[in-house]
Amino acid sequence: MSRIAYVNGRYVPHASAAVHIEDRGYQFADGVYEVCEVKGGFIIDMRGHLNRLDRSLGELSILWPLHRSALERILAEVVRRNRIRNGLVYLQVTRGVARRDHVFPGPNVRPALVITATRSDPQVSDQMAATGIDVITVPENRWERVDIKTVGLLPNVLARQQAKDAGAQEAWFVDKDGIVLEGSATNAWIVTQDGAIVTRDAERGILRGITRTTLFEVAKKLGLKVVERGFTVDEALMAREAFVTSATKTAISVISINGSSIGNGHPGSVASALRGSFFDVAEKTPA
Ligand code: PDD
Repeated sequence: MSRIAYVNGRYVPHASAAVHIEDRGYQFADGVYEVCEVKGGFIIDMRGHLNRLDRSLGELSILWPLHRSALERILAEVVRRNRIRNGLVYLQVTRGVARRDHVFPGPNVRPALVITATRSDPQVSDQMAATGIDVITVPENRWERVDIKTVGLLPNVLARQQAKDAGAQEAWFVDKDGIVLEGSATNAWIVTQDGAIVTRDAERGILRGITRTTLFEVAKKLGLKVVERGFTVDEALMAREAFVTSATKTAISVISINGSSIGNGHPGSVASALRGSFFDVAEKTPA
């Protein structure tokens, strides 16, 4: 079955889908995006992702490309047309197409919208959760507004490639005080020796992950305590567990940081419990 993408008002074959060469996303990374997991034919936490999209657009003074309810319908339609039961749906809004000029184009330029959906095998993710991942640390080199989910991801791309080159699967950005911020495409968590679940507060320095927010509720339901505070790489190395979260990974244990084992060197029980209950708590919208 051939894949279908939504591009500025039309459903088109993925293989021939295209945007204009002067799309500001292409020239300036002047755009934002969201990624929602699709699980069992449901879009996960769509409301939370669209609330964050609303915030990202607002922070950059980009208008909604169309009414929110229409966008919700198109997200579901793209999932359906691609017959995705498990995978993800990606949406990107840029400031639109205009002659190259740093200042914003006039009000007649409409924001551009692209939506794609990708299938994935849940067994691959479950296998990753059963094995755990290795993480390296890299110095923070991103701009200060990482709370906005922009398509300007070059530092994240370079960090993830550096992780891959080192035989690891994720890179954690670390600030000049040695505090862990977040991963290249995930939020970072630890479980301390006395059992507290710790993740950095989202007031600044990180993206406020939608998975992160849902996992606060999951933890509450399981009677587990979450503390929002920064932690250092040294503290993470002494932790009982470490894990990462995102819409594409749910929660995956970190078994080593910079080559040093975390805990007993195997995926931990807290990450596994949070992962196990995630879909009981997350919002599910039928596609
Ligand atoms: N990334 N931090 C960063 C830098 C991210 O890019 C992401 C998500 C997260 C986790 O956010 P959420 O739980 O809402 O997915 C944290 C997506 C999955 C991506 O870029 O593919």
